[in-house]
Amino acid sequence: MNRILVAILLLLPLRLASEVPHGVKSMSVEDKARAVVGLQRKLFPPTNNGIAGRTAPLPQYGLPTLALADGTAGVRLSRTAPERSTAFPDNNALASSWDSSLAWEAGDAVGYEAFGYGVGVMLAPGINIIRNPLCGRDFEYFSEDPLLAGRLAAAYVRGIQGHSVAACPKHFTCNNQETNRGRVDARVDERAFREIYLKCFEICVRESHPWALMSSYNQVNGTPAQEQYDILTGLLRDEWGFDGIVMTDWSIVEHNTAAQIHAGNELLMPGLDRQIDDIVEAVRSGVLPEEDLDKAVERLFSLASRAGTPREPGHPDLARGAAVSRKAATEGAVLLQNNGMLPLTEGGSAAFFGVRSYDLIATGAGSGYVKPAYISQIYSAFKDAGVQPDAELEELYLKYVAFTEADIRINEKVKIHLGIGLPFIPEMPLSRTLIDKAAERDDYAVVALGRSAGEGVDRSLKDDYYLSETEKDLVSGVCEAFHAKGKKVVVVLNICGVIETSSWKDLPDAILNVWFPGQEGGVAVLDLLTGRANPSGRLPMTFANDYFDYPSARDFPYDHPTEGRNYDYTDYTEGIYVGYRHFCTRDVPVCWPFGYGLSYTSFSYSGVKVKKGKTALTVSVTVKNDGGRSGKEAVGVYVSAPSGGLSKPAMELKAFAKTGELAPGASEVVTMEIPLSSLSSFSGGKWVTAKGEYTLHIGADASNPVAQAKVSIKSVK
Ligand code: BGC
Repeated sequence: MNRILVAILLLLPLRLASEVPHGVKSMSVEDKARAVVGLQRKLFPPTNNGIAGRTAPLPQYGLPTLALADGTAGVRLSRTAPERSTAFPDNNALASSWDSSLAWEAGDAVGYEAFGYGVGVMLAPGINIIRNPLCGRDFEYFSEDPLLAGRLAAAYVRGIQGHSVAACPKHFTCNNQETNRGRVDARVDERAFREIYLKCFEICVRESHPWALMSSYNQVNGTPAQEQYDILTGLLRDEWGFDGIVMTDWSIVEHNTAAQIHAGNELLMPGLDRQIDDIVEAVRSGVLPEEDLDKAVERLFSLASRAGTPREPGHPDLARGAAVSRKAATEGAVLLQNNGMLPLTEGGSAAFFGVRSYDLIATGAGSGYVKPAYISQIYSAFKDAGVQPDAELEELYLKYVAFTEADIRINEKVKIHLGIGLPFIPEMPLSRTLIDKAAERDDYAVVALGRSAGEGVDRSLKDDYYLSETEKDLVSGVCEAFHAKGKKVVVVLNICGVIETSSWKDLPDAILNVWFPGQEGGVAVLDLLTGRANPSGRLPMTFANDYFDYPSARDFPYDHPTEGRNYDYTDYTEGIYVGYRHFCTRDVPVCWPFGYGLSYTSFSYSGVKVKKGKTALTVSVTVKNDGGRSGKEAVGVYVSAPSGGLSKPAMELKAFAKTGELAPGASEVVTMEIPLSSLSSFSGGKWVTAKGEYTLHIGADASNPVAQAKVSIKSVK
């Protein structure tokens, strides 16, 4: 009896969803067209201030409206709304955790708040590949590696969707630069397209079944991504089994409306009246088959049955998000350098230099921006913990920040201006006398350096990727003065992506990178520097020695073109050799390799076992904490494949995992699966797995794997 009841309950949602298509047949073409075009911004009710868009309600057919909200670091409410939401660490930080369960927790916390604020679709996560360090949205993306990006994004999506809120991975696909993002043509070869740029989406879609996906603004190989049937339907639905809706990114350029619907977009956002007319006209004239429109409407009904649970904007408990945000900021930080300075002894006095010690950048700008109730500052987190911040520096910096903020606002000097830009406060020059005095009185120095970024604009080399002259003087001046007194200096990076570090990394005693750490950044820095938490983050992208070492360096708008190469089109000449695939294969020295990160303890690896099954390799390894503090260890498995007649990277990440918290002396057997199909390369229009001997390199750091195993593969089914 019970079983029958369970079966009925399980089938109920299917039955409700399957009732919907009947209704679609009875709808007029005009109503169907209305359903697939978002409600324009001007129609939003005032209570939804901050919502990025809405689907059109058609109550006569039982189709509710859904609210769509950004973004990639939490629920983006309006800057002027009285409500606040939790600012979570950016995706660079989440990716640095190498921990799917943490990505799930973050998605779960975001889904909870989204539901509480009446949101039906979260426009997140951003999962484009980090191809070049200057992309203005790199902070919204996970990694230069498609497995790390796809798998963490999948966990995040599952977390969000557990709350009846649709996730919407974006921007599909090859939206790897912001310059001319509405029109630029990403010219990418088939192999790189499949193995790198599509792969992260493929993994995310197959593993988490997102209920929505956003097609990108740009063109791919000569056609707007939003108009490509082969990609949006052929690949996404037919090959990968996607069963959600595709919505367009926010129409900053005119598109062929009929082609967008035919290609497989079910929702045109943010929605324009003329698109409704276009669709009606296209159906009437036979340009757009009515079945295409019907399918789109059916899928919108099915989105509504998944994410349309009635909800009223309420007051989610923000304490829940705060705890997850703090955990993610801590586990997503990467300790890059430590010449014995860290962890710090508690107490004493510290000199906090750098604007970001007093005015942390919690999140990026643009649609990735989140305004939290508060931001934990570095200097005040230490103060609350009983460390005395240098009073002169505190006074000077707080006044400088207040003055510069007012100056930026009153004189409208916003660096990134999209109506949602963030003021960026540059460093101020300090006199050597001031620094010397601080070195005399304080026990150690913290220098926090920051970078801001946001959509619509790519970053610059000058004063952005490279440190500004003032920043260089600050770092070298503080290091000289403190070292002269036998005292130490730690640099904290509060950055939106990669910056140049190799020319100055040996000056300070320690470097901690916390990315955009969200609202709990200050306490996370305190926890990590004092050893209350043990750093366990690993870089999800390579920090090269110099910008021009990146294989995409010249094929990127680094010199701000306004037409032609890298503006109208960008050639992805590096092919599959993105990030570490390039550096490891061609032995190019780097500053910090992919997968690099330090800990306050040390781990040893032993007992590597590889079991070859019919469809997968199962790799297990014992990881032991050999040091004196408890900590977690990220483990990667990189594979060197036989060539099989193709050019192959020296190694590629094929599996990863993270241990739990291991006490000193404790060990854990970490087990990871590598599907045999994931060993293949895309060649001649199909996936091919080379036969021969594969070498498995185990350890997170791509340049320094700690164990090896070999396996021979004869055939793959
Ligand atoms: C961005 C999307 C965002 C949308 C809605 C677009 O400009 O590219 O990422 O979700 O705006 O705010």
